[in-house]
Amino acid sequence: MFEITANCLLKLIPQDTIYIGLLWPPYFVKPSIELLIPEFRAHTEKLLTDFFKHESLEVGQHLSLPLVMKNLGVIYSRPQDVEEWISWGPDVWTAESEVRDGKVLHRYLDAIYEEALTKSKDDIWSQIAYLEIDGKQISAAEFRGIAGVMLAGGRDTVVKLFTGIMWHFGNKPEDLALLRSNPELIGPAIQEFLRFLTPLPAMNRTVVPESSTLELPDDRYVGISFISGNFDESVFENPFQINFHRGRNPHLSFGFGPHTCLGNHIAEIEAKVFLEALIDSGLTWEVTTEEIRFHQLPYTKIPDYFGALKIART
Ligand code: HEM
Repeated sequence: MFEITANCLLKLIPQDTIYIGLLWPPYFVKPSIELLIPEFRAHTEKLLTDFFKHESLEVGQHLSLPLVMKNLGVIYSRPQDVEEWISWGPDVWTAESEVRDGKVLHRYLDAIYEEALTKSKDDIWSQIAYLEIDGKQISAAEFRGIAGVMLAGGRDTVVKLFTGIMWHFGNKPEDLALLRSNPELIGPAIQEFLRFLTPLPAMNRTVVPESSTLELPDDRYVGISFISGNFDESVFENPFQINFHRGRNPHLSFGFGPHTCLGNHIAEIEAKVFLEALIDSGLTWEVTTEEIRFHQLPYTKIPDYFGALKIART
């Protein structure tokens, strides 16, 4: 198993890194995101009410995804694009399909870029479009890369977190009851769900900055397993149990080092609003259908992908 140390991670960070966390105003810090809580809360309450009006709907498609996308529309000031973002499936994000392919995403990002260039740095997109590296304004392709990761980063990770929370409470309603009677455990519960679900379980780092040479070795990638750190028995007692009473919870779900998740405060605040709304709703439910792909050994109890999750009110 590859052992992660802060030192070796630093060595793996390309020197030409662009720190979008340094934009102004600081979009991704806690006080900025906290201003958005009333809007997050309104979306959460509306979607929960609509969701539970139906007898049995799929959680990811009808609750988590629309909620996360609506919140992202607020964060990035593009509520008009939310329906389009919701419609993007894996066909748009990754490989090709007969229906659509990544060109849909590229066309969208290029249109945002053109629009951003007509403005004078008054929103996050125009600030990125006008970013300079070594005195040179970034290119359309670089804009596409940055904007793409900003849209992708806050999507399936948070969807998986919310869906996993609904799954867990559906199977273990006593944990929801515990939070209802002890709301001070909401903070620890968020960290514990992040650890247990590890929405982004692993990533690769390249040991050779890709922009530095044309002759890139095939073995330049090093895999980093965040899930392995999150279930390390020498750090977490009974790691396969969800336990809201852990003291310190030094999970690696957001990675760490210079590339630590830019949206970690967004995810935590969205999750806090979500849990508070669930608690205040008084709702309880049970799982009626689950099609879940679990991780391989030794993480066979940890959901990797929620294919379908249906729940019904109890
Ligand atoms: C439960 C939710 C989330 C999880 C588990 C998660 C996890 C991660 C991880 C593991 C990384 C890589 C860290 C590394 O390379 O060391 C990352 C990077 C990133 N995340 Fe998140 N993320 C979440 C939510 C979000 C949200 C809500 C956003 C934005 C709205 C976001 C935007 C990003 C961006 C832009 C990066 C790239 C940062 C960089 O390369 O400097 N993420 N995330």
